[in-house]
This record gives sequence, structure tokens and C-alpha cells, in this order.
Amino acid sequence: MTDQTITSFSREHRVFRPSAEFKAQANLGSETTYKRLYSESVNSPEKFWGREAKARLVWRRAFTKVLQWKLPHAKWFQGGQLNAAENCIDRHLLTARANKAAIIFEGEPGDIRTITYRQLHQQVCQFANALTALGLGKGDRAAIYMPMVPEAAVAMLACARLGVIHTVIFGGFSSEAIKERVNDCQARVVITADGGWRRGKIVELKANVDRALQSGAPTVERVIVLKRTGQEVPMEAGRDRWWHEVVAGQPIEHRAKAFDSEHPLFILYTSGSTGKPKGVLHTTGGYLLGTAMTCHYVFDLKDEDVYFCTADVGWITGHSYVVYGPLACGATVMMYEGAPNHPEPDRFWQIIDRHAVTVFYTAPTAIRSFMRSGDDYVKRHSLKSLRLLGSVGEPINPEAWMWYHTMIGKKKCPIVDTWWQTETGAIMVTPLPGITPTKPGSCGRPFFGVVPKVLDEEGKEVPRGGGGKLFLAQPWPSMLRTLWGDDERFKQAYWSELPGYYFAGDGARFDADGYLWVVGRIDDVLNVSGHRIGTAEVESALVSHPSVAEAAVVGRPDELKGQALVCFVTVKNSVTESAELKDQLRAHVAREIGALARPDEVRFAAGLPKTRSGKIMRRILKELAAGGIVKGDTTTLEDFSVVAALQSEE
Ligand code: PRX
Repeated sequence: MTDQTITSFSREHRVFRPSAEFKAQANLGSETTYKRLYSESVNSPEKFWGREAKARLVWRRAFTKVLQWKLPHAKWFQGGQLNAAENCIDRHLLTARANKAAIIFEGEPGDIRTITYRQLHQQVCQFANALTALGLGKGDRAAIYMPMVPEAAVAMLACARLGVIHTVIFGGFSSEAIKERVNDCQARVVITADGGWRRGKIVELKANVDRALQSGAPTVERVIVLKRTGQEVPMEAGRDRWWHEVVAGQPIEHRAKAFDSEHPLFILYTSGSTGKPKGVLHTTGGYLLGTAMTCHYVFDLKDEDVYFCTADVGWITGHSYVVYGPLACGATVMMYEGAPNHPEPDRFWQIIDRHAVTVFYTAPTAIRSFMRSGDDYVKRHSLKSLRLLGSVGEPINPEAWMWYHTMIGKKKCPIVDTWWQTETGAIMVTPLPGITPTKPGSCGRPFFGVVPKVLDEEGKEVPRGGGGKLFLAQPWPSMLRTLWGDDERFKQAYWSELPGYYFAGDGARFDADGYLWVVGRIDDVLNVSGHRIGTAEVESALVSHPSVAEAAVVGRPDELKGQALVCFVTVKNSVTESAELKDQLRAHVAREIGALARPDEVRFAAGLPKTRSGKIMRRILKELAAGGIVKGDTTTLEDFSVVAALQSEE
């Protein structure tokens, strides 16, 4: 197998096959079975998904129709009723899993807790009872802004149990970002903590919530505060309640109600190419099926596994592969609160050895930073419990893949490079660890029911080897249903690029063997350390600063983060450009959005390169940000002197 077309990914052409030992024990070890099931899943999707949904989920009422597809709106498993929390917890209580660890938690300071399925059930029931006592019920929205502690999962599952729609806000987001999300979904309650631990310091979660609510979030009636870090936090009488107080005395039993398969499970905000984050809506039956099934086949989960996904619950990976998917499978989930490099860059390897982690799922940006820290940190640990590795969030460069394979996997663990998105809910394209020969840098072949297409501008299929835009041609159960409160934007963002197809926003190519190589975003969304950041979001944060007249943000390739944020800023006439102002602007963006969006570089520009119709030519700015020389066509520029000025600054 060769792949001559990928020049930037040309450092490793070898193909890695699963060992006979892995294959023999895999949940799927036969290529013939994969081909048969895949073919059924795309040719007779209703038969395939109907059977899988019955087998993998607990239904209170059987569905009568597998799929109603009125493009772009899908309804899966109509007539069916179920409860997501019951599917993740209660069902296991009737089995030998009742006293098995559901969550093994390690806090950053080193505190360790193991929570069995029975204990998780009790905690979720108590919290669900507490939320009910506060007047929350089906269809209400609850925002969750918490550290990576078990109570974050408890809060999510308690909401699910009640039919309350949760929106988890990543703990690294700012108060502005909280306010925007809480207002968009009109949350009635915010569930938070006094703080969380990160690199030995306290992240002031409660203070951020207070700031967000002070600046205007009229729908929020209650704030529930978990005591995690223990520092003094002001509690507003009538609004704020401690978690331990609201659960005290609540029964540890709760009868879960059944909800329609299409009942909304959660809203998760993600960046798009315009300024405002998109509230991606996922519903119950299809989402659970997609996440549970991929956990079974892609992570090959067994009852003996200790499965560690390093994502925060604030991201889709944390929803699908820390909480819903693995718990629906009855797995033991390892959860870690803090920074991977605290107190030293071997914290993950320490955790793997201490808790005998068998399956490990992380992001290329983390892998690259471990590579940079040096192999000695890895060599301190045996990592002998590991049997399978995963990667997600951005294309993994072959060099990082090889390091992961050699240093962490000791050349014996298959690597699943999983391509998917907040919108897809579950993994879409991936190797299956027992069968798929892997090529470093490629995410392999489609999962069941997924029909990826690489198409050109006219919507024609690009021959293998050629690059184009990535689309998905058929609906799948865990797909987003709409954008919260904005169905027009849903249609526009995902279904208008080419009628009939879901547009992923990524550029990709198939190689001669039908393996998919995702190159990266082709819209105005950057992928910084595996996180999506809309350039328009950062631009609007910049222009909200009193000194800024105009701003344009582009990505520059970055060895560690994948992409770095470079901002071109035109200041107002009365303002003097200075190094201090650059620092102020970087801090301003971090305050407006969160530290993850802090610009790597701010460059002042007397003017921005524009077309005659006034559109900023980002391609030129990208070239300037990456290397300083503008090579492409500049004939549509209104005023070349703007570019000349920026170039001479280099
Ligand atoms: O560009 C692709 C990249 O991440 C985007 C989705 O980001 P988000 O919704 O935040 O979800 C991240 C976790 C699922 C995609 O459009 N991406 C994700 N995984 C991969 C990837 N690019 C290449 N290879 C991957 N394995």
C-alpha cells in the first residue's frame, strides 16, 4: 500500500497490522464480518440500525419506525421511549457490574475515589431528586460549568434522568462565554463548583459564574455549587445553594421516566465560521446508540478494561467518550481532573500505571507536547497494562503517530485515529483495532452507516488520490438534529454547500486503498490544540476593545498546537501601537473567550488587505503569518501597498 499523493504526510509509509493476539480477542476480528455489516449498514440502514438499537439499548417502549428522513431533519427510533441515565447506569445494577467501578477518579492534588455503578446510581438519583425539588423538569435547560470531577458526570446524568437538557460549558471558558451560552439556551440553573485544580492553582469557577450572571442572565434562578477546592466563595442568598446541602436528605432512589427517543439530551456549543457559537443539539436514542456502539467496536471495550479518555466533559469527546458511550457499555472510566504536566509531564503515564489503564484516548497536541518533554518521562513508567491507543481532535502527524506507537504503545497496541465532530456525536471514520491495517496520519475507513465523500466544487466525486471537501452522504443515528433556536443556520451551515449532503467543513482525500486523510478545516474555523475556534469569534472579541478599529485573525501552522492564532489589528487613529497594547489585546481575548483563544501573536497593520468589494483576503494574511512572503495571486487586491507594508515589517 502506498500513498504518493500526500506530500506533507510523507514521512511514514509503513502499514501497521494488529497482532494475532489482539485480533483473536477483538470485539470485531474479521474483515469479512466488517464488510458484511458495513454493506448492510449503508444498503439497508433501517434493518441494521433497528437491530442494533434493540440489542444495545434498554427501551421502555419499543420504537415503531427506525428512521424518518426529511432532509436535513432526521428522526430516529420514533415511537420508542427510553431514559439515557437508565441506559448508562440502572441496567448494570441487574448484572455483575453493580459493584464494578464505573468511575475511577484522580484529582490533580492526588486524591483518588472509586465510584461503583451502584454508588453512581445513588449519587445520580439523589441529585436528580434535588433538581426536582428545585423545580426542574423535562425540557428545562441546565448549564454545567464544572471541573473534571465525578460530580460533573453525576450532574449530566441527573439532568438526563429528568429530561432536563444540559449544556456543559468548558471550565476554561470565560464569564462572557458562560453568559452567551446561558442566555442562548435560557438556562434556569447553573451547576458549578467553587473551583477546580489546574497546574496547582485554583480555577475560579464560581467567581466566573457570578460575573456572568451579574452582567445579565435573567433566566438563571439557581446556582448549585460543589465544594471542591474549599476557598471562600460568596453565596448569593436565595440564588446559590451548596451541592452537599441540596442533596442532603434526598432519597438515593429515583424512578427514571421514559422519554421519546428524539427528546433532546444536550446542547453543546461549538465554533462556526461566524461569530456566535453554534448550539449543537443531540437527542437521546440515536446519540446513545452511536456512542455505545463505537465504544464497543472502536475501543474494543471489555468488562476488564480500565478506559481513560483524557478529554474534558466540556467538549464533545468528554460527553461521548467519558460519560455516555463507555457507561452505556458498562465500562470502568478513568477520570483525571488536572493538567497533563502537573506536577511533571509524566502525569498521564503515572495514572496509567497506578490504575492499570488498558485503553487510552488522547489528542495529537498532547502527544506532541509529551514528545517535546523528552522520553525520560515516559521511561519512568512501564505502561504494560495498555492494549489500545486512540487519537482525536486534529490530524495526527506521522512523526507523533510513530512516537505514540513506539514509546507509549510499545509497538504492540493498535492506534485508532478517530475522525468525527461535535455535530456527528460519535466516531465516523476510524480504523477498527482488530482488523484495519493502520497508516500513520490516516483515520482509515468509515464506521458502520457512514458514507464519506470527497467532492469537488461542482459536487463531483474526486478520484482517489485527489483532494476535495469532505461530505457525508447518509443520515446516521448520532447526528446533530439542529442548532438550538436556529434551524436556518443549521440548514445553512451543514446542508447548503451541496444539496443532499452533510458538509463537514474539512478538506480531505481518499488514497488508493480507500483510506481517508483529513487535512483540516477549510472554513474560517481554526483547530488550536484540538479545539475549534472561529476566527470571527476572536475578531469580534478584538474589535470590542476600545483601541481596535479592525481585526483579522488567521491560523499559522504550529508544531505543538497544530495551529497558532495570529491576529492582524488596525488600531484607531488616536491610539499608539505598542508592545503593551499587544499584551493587553491578548489578555482581552482570553478574558472575552477563554485562555484557549489567547492569540499567539498580535501584529499591527495600518490597513488590512481587501478585495475591491471590501472582503478581507485571509489567504494573504495566512501567507504573511506563516512565512512573510505573499506568493499567490494578488490581482484582486484593492491596494497592494497594504501588503507591501505588512511584508516590510517582517
Ligand atoms: O477538523 C476536524 C478535526 O476536528 C474537527 C471537529 O472538531 P470538534 O467538533 O471540536 O470535535 C473534536 C473531537 C471529535 C473536525 O472537523 N478532527 C477531529 N478528529 C480528527 C480531526 N481531523 C483529523 N483527524 C482526526 N482524527
